[in-house]
Amino acid sequence: MDTQNLTIHFILLIFIPFSFSSFIPVDNYLLNCGSNTNVTLFNRLFIGDDFTNKGSILISADQSISLTNQNPPPNLSTLYQTARVFTKMGSYRFLLKQNGTFFVRFHFSFFKAQGFDLKDANFSVLVGGKLILNSFNPKAGTNDEVIKEFVLKVESNLLEIVFIPVSDSGFGFVNGIEVFSAPEDFVVDYGARFVDPFGVREYKNLSYDVLETVHRINVGGVKLTPFNDTLWRTWIPDSDFLVFKEAAKAVVSTHTPDYQKGGATREIAPDSVYMTAQEMNRDNQSILASQFNITWNFQVASVGVRHLVRLHFCDIVSPSLNLLYFDVYINSYSAYKDVDLSSLTFHMLTSPVYVDFVVDSDDSGVIQISVGPSSLSSSMRINAILNGAEIMKVVSVMDLSSHVASRKKRLLEVLVGSIVGGIIVLLLVIAVFLVCRGRRKKKPKLRTVESVGWTPLRMFGGSSLSRMSEGTAYQSPGSYGHFGLKIAFADIQLATNNFDESLVIGSGGFGMVYKGVLRDNLKVAVKRGMPGSRQGLPEFQSEITILSNIRHRHLVSLVGFCEENSEMILVYEYVERGPLKDHLYGSEGLVQPLSWKKRLEICIGAARGLHYLHTGFTQGIIHRDIKSTNILLDENYIAKVADFGLSRSGPCIDETHVSTNVKGSFGYLDPEYFRRQQLTDKSDVYSFGVVLFEVLCVRPAVDPQLDREQVNLAEWALKWQKKGMLEHIIDPYLVGKIKESSLKKFSETAEKCLAEYGVDRPSMGDVLWNLEHSLQLQESDQEVNVTYANSIGDSEVNVTSSIVLRNPPSNIRLEGDYDNNYSDVSTTKVFSQLITREAR
Ligand SMILES: *[C@@H]1O[C@H](CO)[C@@H](O)[C@H](O)[C@H]1NC(C)=O
Ligand SMILES: *[C@@H]1O[C@H](CO)[C@@H](O)[C@H](O)[C@H]1NC(C)=O
Ligand SMILES: *[C@@H]1O[C@H](CO)[C@@H](O)[C@H](O)[C@H]1NC(C)=O
Ligand SMILES: *[C@@H]1O[C@H](CO)[C@@H](O)[C@H](O)[C@H]1NC(C)=O
Ligand SMILES: *[C@@H]1O[C@H](CO)[C@@H](O)[C@H](O)[C@H]1NC(C)=O
Ligand SMILES: *[C@@H]1O[C@H](CO)[C@@H](O)[C@H](O)[C@H]1NC(C)=O
Ligand SMILES: *[C@@H]1O[C@H](CO)[C@@H](O)[C@H](O)[C@H]1NC(C)=O
Ligand SMILES: *[C@@H]1O[C@H](CO)[C@@H](O)[C@H](O)[C@H]1NC(C)=O
Repeated sequence: MDTQNLTIHFILLIFIPFSFSSFIPVDNYLLNCGSNTNVTLFNRLFIGDDFTNKGSILISADQSISLTNQNPPPNLSTLYQTARVFTKMGSYRFLLKQNGTFFVRFHFSFFKAQGFDLKDANFSVLVGGKLILNSFNPKAGTNDEVIKEFVLKVESNLLEIVFIPVSDSGFGFVNGIEVFSAPEDFVVDYGARFVDPFGVREYKNLSYDVLETVHRINVGGVKLTPFNDTLWRTWIPDSDFLVFKEAAKAVVSTHTPDYQKGGATREIAPDSVYMTAQEMNRDNQSILASQFNITWNFQVASVGVRHLVRLHFCDIVSPSLNLLYFDVYINSYSAYKDVDLSSLTFHMLTSPVYVDFVVDSDDSGVIQISVGPSSLSSSMRINAILNGAEIMKVVSVMDLSSHVASRKKRLLEVLVGSIVGGIIVLLLVIAVFLVCRGRRKKKPKLRTVESVGWTPLRMFGGSSLSRMSEGTAYQSPGSYGHFGLKIAFADIQLATNNFDESLVIGSGGFGMVYKGVLRDNLKVAVKRGMPGSRQGLPEFQSEITILSNIRHRHLVSLVGFCEENSEMILVYEYVERGPLKDHLYGSEGLVQPLSWKKRLEICIGAARGLHYLHTGFTQGIIHRDIKSTNILLDENYIAKVADFGLSRSGPCIDETHVSTNVKGSFGYLDPEYFRRQQLTDKSDVYSFGVVLFEVLCVRPAVDPQLDREQVNLAEWALKWQKKGMLEHIIDPYLVGKIKESSLKKFSETAEKCLAEYGVDRPSMGDVLWNLEHSLQLQESDQEVNVTYANSIGDSEVNVTSSIVLRNPPSNIRLEGDYDNNYSDVSTTKVFSQLITREAR
């Protein structure tokens, strides 16, 4: 090593601990095998194993040989210049302070010495009783040095690593071994997304799998060595894996990622991974026009081998939040649709997250990862990114006993001997440990999961487990207390037949909805928050807080909630006929179209529920996610507004809006809210206007399959409405069944709702009134359209409206809280409200 190198090492030794190695493993064993010297590699001290046979590492390898490379290449690290060779079975045993998930790395290099050519080795390796390398011959790799890395759970205080030569004349060897504790929650048991032709479902118990690293990629970045990585990993650039290089453009951020509780950590991947990415390359004119994916191909073991694909994301490309929406595909299957990093990171740009996917390789021997724009992307902001990717093989671990049974009996005896030996050592260690502990002062008790509230919590993109433990930004359940509504997890399991798949009645970004029956025979809908959920803790709490205070005929009521076992479960009254949308279009079970009268009654009911939300409380509540899937119908087709997860309290008296990050559903989103990120109850009015057109035209709010001009229902319908030719695009079923006056009133109301500026939109009270009017027109015997020719706000309407109020049609029921003050709401009041709002 020359002086310059030494200087660099010296400087690194000083600075590295502060900059990178903030993580200190509880257990950390680094062995330089077949050697009696210590060696430093990437600032880590590997201890010569010749004299470690005491203390906490034990070698039982009587017939092993220490081998030294006599002619090492000039710059080969000392670690690779010696090896321990096993001609018979031999083992290392490590005493562990703490069980849990571990990294186990083996270093191999090849040389000839003392009649051994290490390239001829053929051996198996057991780690903690699990056969992780079977008839292994490391020369398969083309590099001069091979590192095999495993991540696995150790549930014992002793880890034994056994080397077994494959044949009597064969031998095994190893140059270096690392055994160190992984950070807590490095692999979590829930939230991984299992991707196959049948869709995406949760993959459980990932931490019980033995994972072997196959690829570790710093997408859009440079090679990272163990110097640059918190867990001494090596990351390589992605360019060799890109299928079509022109599709991707590397981006580099100078901004250090904002790690948040609940997101990824520096140990999950280092800063450098999150500070670089590939994004869609829109520079090249020839590919600019089309939508496309960025695709990488990774060689893996073929056919039916399961792999963990861990993808890392950090939005370093968007100028602000909520602009980036993209889809992730693995092996051409949709693996994660409409990834919205802003919501996964709780609205922090440049905040890292990761998502775990599990896939089975097919016979192509390739795992293909693609990212491409989502249909939710605005046409101005089509993009997709990836910052890092790790592919780890799920090692199909052979049972120790069956492995041994197939081998000589002698081996079994030796193994049993070593295990018994291990147990004795273990018992001794435990005894010593207990004695030492007993002497120590008692530590203050850790707070339990119960008392902390939401720990451990899953809410991030499938996998970044929330590491919120104490002092969380969110309230504990105690402080928003509604203990009367608490339901035991066991009761929910019972009600849903332990979340029986056949009882699933819906699913979404937040998780699954099950139908269930509680013990008192109450039919309920059970919404179980899933990781990967866009509905995180704040939404969960917001829904409980809001719903527990509300009882209204046109709002779905909350029966209870459950927070045991880090679950987020909401239990609602069961609404028999499900979402309005399913009764309009797109549902196969659609029996018969709803009549115009029914549709009007449904709209009126929903408007009434919303009006109550907006006005029934001192601050008013803004729903924020009005759409046809959030309006449910009970057995009598009574509309009930559901899903208050995004709701916010309205502005206080002296404010005119709530400033907030944009949430809601595309196609329904108030453009003004989107532009100014200011929320008012008029945003709900806009969304409701879209629903009205949906009811009339029976098509989705956004249908990307249609021509550009037709994609967005609001635009499309307004265009026809302005031409006065809306009847061209209404539900063919309604043609001839809907009175012209009723249609006119209805469509004018919808049009007003979609006014560009919130101040120009009617209040929900006005909308309600106009819809009732439209129903009355449909019901009345004569056509009276002349009288109603003018739109809302005209004095003439005031006149006619009072006529309507004097003769309310019998079919309009006035109920709930609206009932009580309906008589007070004269039309003039309604309009004076509108006027005061406008004046503000
Ligand atoms: C190697 O390191 C170990 C542990 O730090 C120490 O006990 C031992 O003396 C060292 N050996 C040499 C030759 O420096
Ligand atoms: C080792 O040295 C050789 C020649 O001196 C050089 O070609 C090679 O790149 C070096 N390898 C490393 C890993 O530095
Ligand atoms: C290792 O030994 C096994 C059993 O004898 C044999 O099947 C396998 O082909 C050998 N592997 C190599 C790479 O020589
Ligand atoms: C693992 O560690 C935990 C906590 O130290 C302990 O309760 C548990 O018994 C250990 N498991 C085994 C198998 O040793
Ligand atoms: C996951 O692990 C737990 C604890 O070992 C076990 O009870 C459960 O059955 C496992 N679930 C699956 C799906 O393997
Ligand atoms: C990685 O570490 C090396 C050695 O310390 C340093 O020269 C290099 O700049 C680092 N690279 C990154 C991307 O941090
Ligand atoms: C643009 O893409 C085409 C392939 O579609 C490629 O042939 C061409 O070299 C690219 N041009 C630039 C400037 O990257
Ligand atoms: C991206 O790839 C997926 C899977 O192969 C494919 O279904 C999708 O159409 C592609 N998207 C674009 C825009 O090419």
